Amino acid sequence: MKLGVFDSGLGGLTVVRHLREQLPQADILFYADQLHVPYGLRDQEELYGFLCNNIATLEAQGVDAIVVGCNTSCAIATKFGMPKASVPIFDLVEAGANAAFAVASNRFGVAATPVTVNTGAYRRALMVRDAASEVIEIASPVLAGLIEQQAPAAQLRAAVQEIADLLRPCNAVILGCSHYALIEELFSEALPYAAIIDPAREQALAVANYAREQGKQTSGGASFVAWTNADTRAFIDKVNQLGLTQPCSGLAVAR
Ligand code: DGL
Repeated sequence: MKLGVFDSGLGGLTVVRHLREQLPQADILFYADQLHVPYGLRDQEELYGFLCNNIATLEAQGVDAIVVGCNTSCAIATKFGMPKASVPIFDLVEAGANAAFAVASNRFGVAATPVTVNTGAYRRALMVRDAASEVIEIASPVLAGLIEQQAPAAQLRAAVQEIADLLRPCNAVILGCSHYALIEELFSEALPYAAIIDPAREQALAVANYAREQGKQTSGGASFVAWTNADTRAFIDKVNQLGLTQPCSGLAVAR
């Protein structure tokens, strides 16, 4: 099974980590559109263009499925439609909403980028499942960028605290930005009474189900290739430093 994952930057690695747990043999190609990171404050039509490009880029690599590692892109897709591809596309928002209902039943929090919150994608996905849900969505204009730059822990903690203070009434909090899953422990510390939900876990289970249906659950060479359209060497160093995945077995050439 060859999987293509994309994000604006490092956050997609958290998606790769869950995929690797579910599908140890899969060949994973991770594409980061770092030329345009952070996505979360950009124009929605521009983001739709990036989404189309990212999907086409991975499709051209002959992947068996595309796993969207970016909530902002999934939120944009709820507004403009998911671009068509010849392979299945797995999104995070539906996965996150399913996971939230599996652990809690009423007061949901969502921490995400401004674009994701503005589209209302998570709110809709939760309300469709139960119209009586209470949903608090908090956008941070800075947190994804700070994580991408690997800012000092104190700065990250302060940004998380600001979000957490507003999500205190919630009994389940969805990390609605894959970058946030890189600092999941800071969210758990700041919100000790809430279940912290990383939608990528549920998403990876859906991908594993699909692989099983296709009889490809154990196929592949377990490779991991990271690919960026920005500074390739610096990116690969960061990917390997984070140690969330196996070391890259190769670098793809930047476009
Ligand atoms: N990691 C992305 C997300 O899940 C985008 C963060 C950003 O580039 O602003 O929303």
